[in-house]
Amino acid sequence: MKVLGIESSCDETAAAVVDDGRRVLSSVVHSQVPVHAPFGGVVPELASRNHLEHMGPVVKEALKQAGVGIGDLDGLAVTIGPGLIGSLLVGVQFAKSLSLGTGLELVGINHLEAHVMAAFLDGNGEAARFPFLALAVSGGHTSLYRVQAYGDIELIGRTLDDAAGEAFDKAAAVLGLPYPGGVSVDQASEGRNAAAVNFPRAMSRDKTLNMSFSGLKTALRRHVEEREGPLTTDQVGDIAASFQEAVVDVLVLKTLAAARTHGTRDLVVAGGVAANRRLRARMTQAADKEGLALHLVPVSLCTDNGAMVAALGYHYLFGTLREADAPRGLDMDPFVRHVKDGW
Ligand code: KG4
Ligand code: ZN
Repeated sequence: MKVLGIESSCDETAAAVVDDGRRVLSSVVHSQVPVHAPFGGVVPELASRNHLEHMGPVVKEALKQAGVGIGDLDGLAVTIGPGLIGSLLVGVQFAKSLSLGTGLELVGINHLEAHVMAAFLDGNGEAARFPFLALAVSGGHTSLYRVQAYGDIELIGRTLDDAAGEAFDKAAAVLGLPYPGGVSVDQASEGRNAAAVNFPRAMSRDKTLNMSFSGLKTALRRHVEEREGPLTTDQVGDIAASFQEAVVDVLVLKTLAAARTHGTRDLVVAGGVAANRRLRARMTQAADKEGLALHLVPVSLCTDNGAMVAALGYHYLFGTLREADAPRGLDMDPFVRHVKDGW
């Protein structure tokens, strides 16, 4: 069963064809980095306009790379949130038109559920075993979930303020590193001294599974302001590495605490920040030490893509999942809708 997945929740126009919810036949991502780079962050209006321009070509390219025509598809899936409303609308309206024009059934997908379930795409080694614990860490969210089964996801912890990706992006801006910030901080930190600055690890002694990154961002800004004169490349690298270490420390600590509290043996790390090399290395070490089976989503499927949407769409369209099973409380409620149900 081939599903076309469409994703346009933020600043990536993406489409993919996935077979049977696992096998990625194609995954095309058009990044808007050059559009937003001069502004140091995503400009929603520009994002929507850019999606509008690229959605058609991206979908066509995804079909071409998969070697299929529209007539070979069995269903459609599109991200319906959370995300920027103007951006989401482009993907959703495109998918609805395609559905109405072809008669293919369309299902709307929650972006966060798609990030987490990307762990089941082929190429991810051993499949995660239920129940598992998932850390979804992106530009908009930093959340811990207990995943009992497909569609059975419970939010057990989250950031109370900034998402980790947002903190990375803001830190890069303060350090004068190029947009997008997460990747620049990751690169600038390479081989640098992560103990150079002792940044706060907020809520690390707190008993809940919640997190906070806004104080860390302020601490970094103050630290930079207090330095005299322009920073050297080495100093920027040391500050970036120290900042990254503080974020990673909190993510690892809270994720392990969650696994212990909920007694889960399998662990999934997903979302854009899961592409971070230091986070991947530290999670690997920590999981080894605790005897947890770690499933790191491959870097190409961590940041926004259509494959994760198509894969989850398969389960709602053809698997055992029904709309009524859609998890509640993942920042959208309810969030799975079939086009035939009148949306
Ligand atoms: O999942 P994603 O593509 O979009 C959202 O759903 O938000 O995540 C984007 C976020 C951005 O904040 C970006 O800076 C961050 O992921 N990111 C990284 C890395 N690559 C992307 N953060 C740290 N290290 C990276 N290598
Ligand atoms: Zn995302």
